[in-house]
Amino acid sequence: MHGEQLPPFRDPSQPLEARVDDLLSRLTIEEKISIIHADSKFTTAAVPRLGIPRRWLSDGPHGVREDIGPDTWMPAGHTDDFATAMPAGICLAATWNPDLSFDEGEVIGQEARARGKDIMLGPGVNILRTPLCGRNFEYFGEDPWLASKMCVGYIRGEQSEDISSCVKHFALNNQEDDRGTINVEADDRALHEIYLPAFKAAVEQAGVWSVMGAYNQFRGQHCCENELLLNQILKKDWGFKGLVMSDWGGAHDTRECALNGLDLEMGTDTNYDNYYLARPYLDMIQAGELPMTGLDEKVRRNLRVMIATHMLDFNRKPGSINTAAHQTVARRVAEEGIVLLKNQNHTLPLDPARIKTIAVIGENAVRLQAHGGESSEIKAFYEITPLAGILSRVGSKANIIFSEGYCKGARQDLVERAITCAKSADVVIYVGGLNHDPGYDCEGADRKDLKLPYGQDELIQELVAANPKTIVVLEGTMVEMHAWLDRVPALLQAWYPGMEGGNALAAILFGDVNPSGKLPATFPKELSDTPAASFGAATYPGTNGTVAYTEGLLVGYRWFDTRQIEPEFPFGFGLSYTTFAYSNLKLIPTWDGLTVRFDLKNTGDRAGAEVAQLYLHEMNPRLMRPAKELKGFKKVFLQPGEKQTVSISLARNDFAYYDPVQHGWVAQPDDFEILIGGSSRELPLHANFHLKPQ
Ligand code: BGC
Repeated sequence: MHGEQLPPFRDPSQPLEARVDDLLSRLTIEEKISIIHADSKFTTAAVPRLGIPRRWLSDGPHGVREDIGPDTWMPAGHTDDFATAMPAGICLAATWNPDLSFDEGEVIGQEARARGKDIMLGPGVNILRTPLCGRNFEYFGEDPWLASKMCVGYIRGEQSEDISSCVKHFALNNQEDDRGTINVEADDRALHEIYLPAFKAAVEQAGVWSVMGAYNQFRGQHCCENELLLNQILKKDWGFKGLVMSDWGGAHDTRECALNGLDLEMGTDTNYDNYYLARPYLDMIQAGELPMTGLDEKVRRNLRVMIATHMLDFNRKPGSINTAAHQTVARRVAEEGIVLLKNQNHTLPLDPARIKTIAVIGENAVRLQAHGGESSEIKAFYEITPLAGILSRVGSKANIIFSEGYCKGARQDLVERAITCAKSADVVIYVGGLNHDPGYDCEGADRKDLKLPYGQDELIQELVAANPKTIVVLEGTMVEMHAWLDRVPALLQAWYPGMEGGNALAAILFGDVNPSGKLPATFPKELSDTPAASFGAATYPGTNGTVAYTEGLLVGYRWFDTRQIEPEFPFGFGLSYTTFAYSNLKLIPTWDGLTVRFDLKNTGDRAGAEVAQLYLHEMNPRLMRPAKELKGFKKVFLQPGEKQTVSISLARNDFAYYDPVQHGWVAQPDDFEILIGGSSRELPLHANFHLKPQ
């Protein structure tokens, strides 16, 4: 290019839209068609004539997935496709730390660049409607406010590395059973107040460049070709300027795709020329059955994302992979995401110097989890299992013995050996829970119940009987615990904590790190207490191809609180090795709402972090509102004895509900109770606020 002038589309000093216009004007109709559909599992075609490179997509969302063969779902067999395996989305959500979410996104963005990717298929922000959904582990829990804050951080971090995030699955993809066909019927309030806010925040606050349409239908139309979701809400109402891609095989009809907002068709079928947005679309345009302007609009969106992520520039960020800094972020997310649910008589933290023998029991103590779950799997650079983490932390200070305790299929002699092991130890650390086997936390199917598999309920009871000092650590998403919860002295929820998970867990068990995670979803006592399980098969898993969201707005704690059902552990709950006191609540009205101030003090003798949560309760709502709704939170790190004044601002819109008649958000003048505390069911500070007419 020496001495030559750059064409406008290659010139970074030109405005984005001018570059897009210029490039669009140079493309032939065939070239245009070639960039709006796949040409292999995870790529779209290059246009060599103009120097447009092939575009590489990758799953997401817990790191950069291993490379998949071009035309099969088998791994490509590369040796340079390892990545840092981050904790799963639900663990990230449990940190309640959007800054850490930014860091995780940034790491994944850097690794994506180092691996030559352009679009990362994540984050996943579908709301946990039923605890049975096989992909809940990938998502950010049951609350739209929390999911919004966490996904905005993640996307900002990832996109700062010249990568497009692709927020998924838009929308209402809340179950894996029948995911390709099920038709969701949800009312406008549930849609706007529960299922859309995280996507909206991704678009409006994070500026996400790509959105993936979901497999399911909404109101009788597939989500990848859904006029209301894509054209009306996403593109018109929210002003989304990037591209909408299909989930793999989520497109069903050329005309519908052409007219209803799909911009890029991806799939599993290897006949790429026959994709709905390939030859059939070209034929229909050339026959005058579909307008050329529609194609141009799709291409424009694809080019905009390419140019915005500097795909056509010479100085695109090169990225980096598996650096020490990346490993540190993986560890910190796990350390802040693991939740301490029970800690009777200060059972934890353990002091290895005062213990002779520790029995580590349970298959998850040695199981590699990162390479599981289907599309979110990661070929981890390494993975520290719980046992490895405990061994490395304890060193020669105590004797560690291990017994598997359970595994798929086999049982009785494993149990006997585990009991013998438990009896011979001073303390038992049981590491069980779920895994990514099909039917548990895995894409493609839902769980059948909320029970611990492989006889673990009985095993835990036998272990506690053999050794009352049995600490239970559960990996995976939520399970029923009533069979043994009363009897165990301590319980940690470790989710899928990523490749540094074992180190993080050991740091918490032995007190190097003070736990600060809080539940991003209600843990019910029983499945039958949950909203989607409360109205028969029509509300889950659906009947005659349709699932009705009859519970409406009452998802998660909104259901438990409004219906006054006692959960096992409430939303927002998590213990610490120190204690916190809330005091001195002040409400300061502002021109646009309210600033809430209060003091938070670490009243114990260890440094630690508390997630202070703010919930709203409207006193005389015109339409039904849940008993409380999360509208703010802050994670605050405090030294022993330290006190800080915390300030959370609420804008007028934060008081609003979605009015289905006016088709918009309404903040109605009324009295509101402002509730502050460390979990949705422990809110020591409260005061009333009157929202005046505007
Ligand atoms: C999943 C997506 C994933 C895609 C590509 C689909 O089956 O639903 O989340 O990104 O496959 O692997």
